[in-house]
Amino acid sequence: MTETAQPAAVSMPRIGDPAPAFTAVTTQGDISFPADYAGSWVILFSHPADFTPVCTTEFMTFASMQEEFAAYNTKLVGLSVDGLYSHIAWLRTIQDRIEFKDMKNVEVTFPLIEDITMEVAQKYGMIMPGEDSTKAVRAVFVIDPQGTIRTIIYYPLSLGRNFDEILRVVKALQTADAFSIATPADWRPGDRVIVPTAGSCGTAKDRMDGKEDGVECVDWFFCTKEISEGDVEAAIRKA
Ligand code: BEZ
Repeated sequence: MTETAQPAAVSMPRIGDPAPAFTAVTTQGDISFPADYAGSWVILFSHPADFTPVCTTEFMTFASMQEEFAAYNTKLVGLSVDGLYSHIAWLRTIQDRIEFKDMKNVEVTFPLIEDITMEVAQKYGMIMPGEDSTKAVRAVFVIDPQGTIRTIIYYPLSLGRNFDEILRVVKALQTADAFSIATPADWRPGDRVIVPTAGSCGTAKDRMDGKEDGVECVDWFFCTKEISEGDVEAAIRKA
């Protein structure tokens, strides 16, 4: 019987885990992660390679939305397995020469990590050999102010990310924390939210009988309530 080679086992951080710690050189100086970001939400994301077109459109889009993320106390940190001088030259080229949609002269001021040893990429499960063993896939880690991983999204090399969705994820996580609710499919601020299932029979009956303020139940397990867009924004928008 012939045996086929199996890929080596890799450790992958999971939702709910502490973000693995590392120190790194970046285009904005050295960082100690996640310690330097304590108190902020942070999006740690990887891209396959500098000087590639899809990654270029992603960086221009992310950089253009940086202030919007900052308004929700969220910082951006990029990573690829390229070196620092490649990063610097690529970001300069983007600023000097590249136009995409209505964006031009885009300056990327968030840190971009150099990871030529792939140490950080391996730690975060960003190298997926079935896709490419020498490049990181397009990974997105949303990490909360306590340094806990709250969401992980992976895309393959050929697929540019949807940054509106990443901002929606940040807002939904912050809203869930602020109001102790959950958010339904395709939720946006202002849409009805899901009220978690009541812990006791009495509470469940009160809810079904319409005795809990603003809570509407269509079955014992499916209760929603309105939180206005204004109330959501007042709770989560910081600037
Ligand atoms: C890109 O960003 O264009 C790209 C990078 C790696 C593989 C394929 C596309």
